[in-house]
Amino acid sequence: MNICFDEVTKIFYLDTRHTTYAFFVNELFTLEHLYYGASIPHDDLRGICFRRPYSFAPYERMVGDCVSPDIFLQELPAANAGDYRAYALSLLDENGKYGCRMHYVSHAVYAGRRDMAELPCARGEGADSLEIVLKNKAETVEVRLIYVVWAEEDVIAKHIEIKNCCDREIHVLKAAAGVDLWGSDFDLIELYGTYHCERADVQRTPVKRGLQGSFSNKGASGHESNPFFALCAHNADENRGEVYGFNLMYSGNFKNEVQRDKNGNIRIVSGVSDYEFDWLLAPDETFCAPEVVMTFSESGLGGMSRNFHDFIRRHVIDPRFAFSSRPILLNTWEAFGFDIDEEKILSLVDRAKEIGAELLVVDDGWFRSSETEGLGDFCVCREKFPSGLGVLAEKVRAKGLRFGLWVEPEMVSRSSNLYQTHREWVICSDDVKYLGRSQLVLDMGNPAVIEYLYDRLCLILDEARPDYLKWDMNRYISEAGSLLPVHQGEVMHRYVLGVYRLFRLITARYPNLLIETCAGGGGRFDLGMLYFSPQIWTSDNTDPFTRTDIQLGTSLAYPPSCMGSHLTRARVTGLDASEDFRYTAASFGLYGYELDPIGLSARECRRLSEFSRQYRKEEAFVLKGDFYRLIGHRSGNFVAYLQVTKDKSRALFTLIQFLFVEEERSKIVRMRGLDTRARYRCSLDGKIYSGSVLMNLGLRIGDMEYQSGKAVRILFERV
Ligand code: GLA
Repeated sequence: MNICFDEVTKIFYLDTRHTTYAFFVNELFTLEHLYYGASIPHDDLRGICFRRPYSFAPYERMVGDCVSPDIFLQELPAANAGDYRAYALSLLDENGKYGCRMHYVSHAVYAGRRDMAELPCARGEGADSLEIVLKNKAETVEVRLIYVVWAEEDVIAKHIEIKNCCDREIHVLKAAAGVDLWGSDFDLIELYGTYHCERADVQRTPVKRGLQGSFSNKGASGHESNPFFALCAHNADENRGEVYGFNLMYSGNFKNEVQRDKNGNIRIVSGVSDYEFDWLLAPDETFCAPEVVMTFSESGLGGMSRNFHDFIRRHVIDPRFAFSSRPILLNTWEAFGFDIDEEKILSLVDRAKEIGAELLVVDDGWFRSSETEGLGDFCVCREKFPSGLGVLAEKVRAKGLRFGLWVEPEMVSRSSNLYQTHREWVICSDDVKYLGRSQLVLDMGNPAVIEYLYDRLCLILDEARPDYLKWDMNRYISEAGSLLPVHQGEVMHRYVLGVYRLFRLITARYPNLLIETCAGGGGRFDLGMLYFSPQIWTSDNTDPFTRTDIQLGTSLAYPPSCMGSHLTRARVTGLDASEDFRYTAASFGLYGYELDPIGLSARECRRLSEFSRQYRKEEAFVLKGDFYRLIGHRSGNFVAYLQVTKDKSRALFTLIQFLFVEEERSKIVRMRGLDTRARYRCSLDGKIYSGSVLMNLGLRIGDMEYQSGKAVRILFERV
């Protein structure tokens, strides 16, 4: 068991392979944080007692030092309880009073983990759990503080559950997870971006006095920000230095707060955003907050990323898909938009096969011809598809390709029958119904909506029997109200729970259906989605010049094996990219095509078919390998990364230079993650190099054949 409790000191220890997390029950029966970082033997921590300086803030009673709640580091920071820092818990009790000072009552340790009711949570294989029960003085509220430990991956998850133990309703105004850390010499790293540029802007700023952090109020985790963030030592880089990584397993409005307090310590609060949030909890009911997963690494940002990559592949993504080969797909959207019909789709099949595609995805356009119509009804457009989806899919399959389909279940068009019959099923305030991409958002918190969508999707899926489903979400939520007589402060969270419920129903009924989620590109790229869909469409921007930044930024928190990534003709930057460069960018993740195969010359066809074969050879690096950013991300003219098999026997090196600059030919790039004592054959020159030469001396960029905007790829194989 990786969790233990010392009855004498009242210290809890949570141990992973390389880390220790410790806290104790203090004199106020509050849970006080002791340590999180590199492993420390329990005996060494036993006698540690930090002197607490005098605080002006109120204290309950004097026991030795002054024990004011705003002085010590807390495991469950609550509002209106004498701790004036950011809080993870805020309640309005049955008497209409704010306050929630929680005291330790009991705890339990067990192997595995409990499911989290309606929320997705990381899978419990190899995990141990600690559940601590806390209560307020009047015993009207019970909070369970739950830790789950995955020792092998150095990951700990934390969340709270709040139970109403009185006979009147209470309001949950905030329910998040808090983590306090000693010291403040940290940089905060966050993933920012925008549509066409998701997570490409990796911001690193020193943690300052006061509050910092990121959030989304859009109803989705969003293009602009991401629930992931990290804290690292000022001197930490890709390979060295202490890094703490955090990610909230949630797909809706979130808020991450990072606060440096008056004593120079750091408080982190991560959870559902409290923006217009007010959850009514009836007697005996429990509110479950999403979990935050955290990791610590002394091997820099790369170490943190690899911890998360392993964790996500082993414990978040459905094990049926996580490490298995995904079909190379050809998607119709980029080349044809809405302009598709049965004849055109069937005309693509032979060419699609020729270029190595294995699955044909009919994107938007099968039930409509423009973005103003069709959502909600999802009735196949008979003028375009006279034989219907089932027959089309059969014909595609008969010719040897698998079949995939696009849907956008959470939305409705104003002209649809669904909207005409159920105007009360959309999200709006009073009667203000703004359109976004010509569409309204369905009230996914309404069980009748979920029932309708489930039935509708089942009809479509039963008819077409697709192997793959692209599940899109193409607008944010505004005027977030429900027309049902529900408590309006719950609408946004209920929306997300409804989405999860629909995913749960669909994945239970179609366990082999491969789902790729999408939200106007990568606008909902988070752990909540990854629990249900093994892959996510990373961005609508597929121009390799900018896509490289998007993918490298995303790789900070998420493994390449969950990033949908296609070779297209896009020129978002206005620059021409060679086919090789386009292949390199697309084969970073889960490879596919979005182009018109009919328009290809015989030479292009041959080239793409070679790429498909090459990807199959390289795919194991994406699915199972360790990922190292070598020169990275918006740092200048170069990008370089390395994918290494777990046994270190093979490694695939990629170098991209955007512009040719003569004097940069003497630049050196060093490999990482190889076996220093092993010898590797280098595909560039056929020579043998030792791992230690490759990692310490490195390769000279000028020795590689390269041109502007062309990628160099080198395979190292142990001999
Ligand atoms: C979104 C997606 C695209 C495509 C269109 C279809 O923008 O990101 O890939 O599916 O919707 O409308």
